[in-house]
Amino acid sequence: MSLFNKLVVLTLPIVPKGLVKMVAQRYIAGPFLKDAIRTTQGLMEIGASSTIDVLGEFVESESRAQQEFLTSLSVIEGISAHSLHSTLSVKLTSLGLNFDAEFAYKNIAALVQRARELGVFVRMDMENTPYTDATLEFYRRLRADGFTNIGLVIQAYLRRSEADIRSLLEYSPSIRLCKGIYVEPESLAFHDVEEIRTSYRKLLRLLLDGGADVRIATHDEALIEDAKEAAAERGIAPSAVEFQMLLGVREQKRHELITEGYGMRVYVPFGEDWYGYSTRRLKENPEIAGHVAKAFLHLTK
Ligand code: FDA
Repeated sequence: MSLFNKLVVLTLPIVPKGLVKMVAQRYIAGPFLKDAIRTTQGLMEIGASSTIDVLGEFVESESRAQQEFLTSLSVIEGISAHSLHSTLSVKLTSLGLNFDAEFAYKNIAALVQRARELGVFVRMDMENTPYTDATLEFYRRLRADGFTNIGLVIQAYLRRSEADIRSLLEYSPSIRLCKGIYVEPESLAFHDVEEIRTSYRKLLRLLLDGGADVRIATHDEALIEDAKEAAAERGIAPSAVEFQMLLGVREQKRHELITEGYGMRVYVPFGEDWYGYSTRRLKENPEIAGHVAKAFLHLTK
């Protein structure tokens, strides 16, 4: 990352919100569920599917978590009503995990229950390490309660992930494998880019050979190519491989993978609580400084 980009990332908290919003719009479907539905329908037209996420995390009151729960419920209803090729992605801290774990469990169980009635799949996103154990425990509990329409996420940057996968394989779990986005201490997570890639490659093989239903969530060229090879070596056809990408990121690559016959699911966030998600995306954008500068010029025109 260039020095200028680093500077922009460091100063992002003081960049006016209006400006951040202008640059971040590409990562979000819009404020309402109808925006996520429209975006999903567009993706279906190009041969992709989606997973819809209600923006909002680390909520601090029961009433707010209840609101988030109802919005996630409306996503499940919307997927079914519009026959969308889509799933729900949900963050447990949006359902109250950070202040009342039992309340959060009741919320996720109710969502998964309604989703099962409507034939919809739910995936729990993985947040930062204070919530890793609880998220895995919720997964085990949901499976013990008989739900199979539930999946989770493993982050390749975490040192614990290999052990976590080994402990989960008995469930033949549905796992989205990503690098991981939160800031974690070096004692818990690899920081070096190549170490994270090495871990990703290793975990992908562990999942494929262990009978998991793995979804490959990365825009990293090296890892996409490696995943193609790992699948081919195991005789897995492209149509049985699912790549996942974020809305607004590497659309050309997305198109190429679809053309090559690979499955493609796009993460489609919507809602008004866009700031946390958007700033994480901006920090990952290699052209961040250019985009912010352009938006600034536009704003001052
Ligand atoms: P990397 O960040 O190295 O990006 C590779 C290349 O992609 C970059 O060089 C650039 O070309 C392009 N690129 C990436 N991000 C960009 C951006 N914002 N704008 C423009 N170009 C960009 N994390 C987590 O901790 N918990 C979770 O539950 C999830 N869930 C999730 C779902 C899905 C579908 C995806 C794709 C990702 C996640 N993530 C996540 C986020 C993930 O951990 C990671 O932060 C991002 O995917 C970026 O990592 P890459 O593997 O793409 O590599």
